[in-house]
Amino acid sequence: MTTESELLATIPTGLYIDGRWRDASNGATFDVTDPATEQVLARVADATVQDGQDALDAADRARRSWERTSPRERSEILRRAFELVTERAEEFALTMTIEMGKPLAESRGEVAYGAEFLRWFSEEAPRIAGRYATAPDGRNRLLVVKRPVGPCLFITPWNFPLAMATRKIAPAIAAGCTMVLKPAALTPLTALLLTQVFEEAGLPAGVLNVIPTSHAGAVTGPLIKDSRLRKLSFTGSTEVGRRLIADSADQVLRVSMELGGNAPFLVFEDADIPAAVDGAIAAKMRNGGEACVAANRFIVHESVAEEFTTAFTARMAAFHPARGTEPASTIGPMVDAATRDKIASLVDGAVRDGARVALGGAALPGPGYFYQPTVLVDVPDGAGILDEEIFGPVAPITTFRDEEEAIRLANATSFGLVSFAFTRDLDRALRLAEELDTGMLGINAGVVSNPAAPFGGVKQSGLGREGGIEGIDEYLETRYVGIADPSRRD
Ligand code: SIN
Repeated sequence: MTTESELLATIPTGLYIDGRWRDASNGATFDVTDPATEQVLARVADATVQDGQDALDAADRARRSWERTSPRERSEILRRAFELVTERAEEFALTMTIEMGKPLAESRGEVAYGAEFLRWFSEEAPRIAGRYATAPDGRNRLLVVKRPVGPCLFITPWNFPLAMATRKIAPAIAAGCTMVLKPAALTPLTALLLTQVFEEAGLPAGVLNVIPTSHAGAVTGPLIKDSRLRKLSFTGSTEVGRRLIADSADQVLRVSMELGGNAPFLVFEDADIPAAVDGAIAAKMRNGGEACVAANRFIVHESVAEEFTTAFTARMAAFHPARGTEPASTIGPMVDAATRDKIASLVDGAVRDGARVALGGAALPGPGYFYQPTVLVDVPDGAGILDEEIFGPVAPITTFRDEEEAIRLANATSFGLVSFAFTRDLDRALRLAEELDTGMLGINAGVVSNPAAPFGGVKQSGLGREGGIEGIDEYLETRYVGIADPSRRD
């Protein structure tokens, strides 16, 4: 078992550009901090605007030769990367736990989830298909081919530092795109470890370029305006996503945006309540609530509200907040002070709006940015907390009288990433699949994320899909070739 200091000594801390590890052009670094101890873990090269340009230059230079590689070659690099991540699972898990905060068991789950994108897209690379047809008038042959979109920029978040990177990098590699990755400044170490894996897996120089930076806008802004960039994929807040979409308009970039959520979790009167409580715990507490798919509003039929709330609150009370490396830890710290303080202010606001605290309701003393698992009941319609993404271990519970009201409440948000519903009525489940404004729906399931399924939202939750057979399309252009048939010329 590797110790933390042994592990930290092996993780690269430079920029990775054109197949080489190097310092930032001005020698600057920034600190990566453990959110459980507030101690500095590592100093990482802080990419400058010039480094960003160098990264895009490298991606552009590598573009043509990478596009010409065979699908099988790309597939095998991804397969090798999958095997390496799996072999090094404990290193990845510990890295995520110390830089992001989640308990080791959660980090191990993310390693399996993140690695699976590599395996899934290694299997998709050889299946990129086109079509061939004869025009209805018989004069032309119609050939439709799929081509890589070209150099991509990926801006990835801190909450799933491995999986959100592999979810973008793997389909891009499979499709034959080159790329620049800017990982979140709070959690760059996992991305750097992953980069080391790709290097070992034989990914050619220039295909993946990685530029951690503490001044994201200044470094990525010029790349988004550069005509050599053809695609931007971002996972993060709706506020930042909106700005990136506007910036992308100049070059009419292809964009994929995985943005905020405000997931309703509906419990109907016919639900299996113990199963609904299990699902609610998974939907709320996976990743300590720091997930865009986290259940944000519990909407429970009034006839089962008491039974559900009592059982759910007991389960929330059993969570043990501690540094994620401690065996007893079942919830780690929030990623930073700002995230913890935002949660605290949402809870305080909900109480001012009339909610009652059934459990928790406060930050824990430091060191570390811990917040108590919290249950809020009697949350009135219109309370601010029902409109905002909480991104923490706080569960507001409201009630409804009938299905129509449940659907109205669930849809009363500008977001539409995921919804969850617990019911034993199949007709109702199918009605919900039709009536809810959502990109994804979990029926009697508290987690729907799966590399084999298309992840993504509607409304202000984003554009595009990641994963599934749909995921590779985000990195492919459709090219149509009309071929005259000389034998049909008049
Ligand atoms: C996210 O929270 O950004 C993604 C969560 C997931 O993939 O399940």
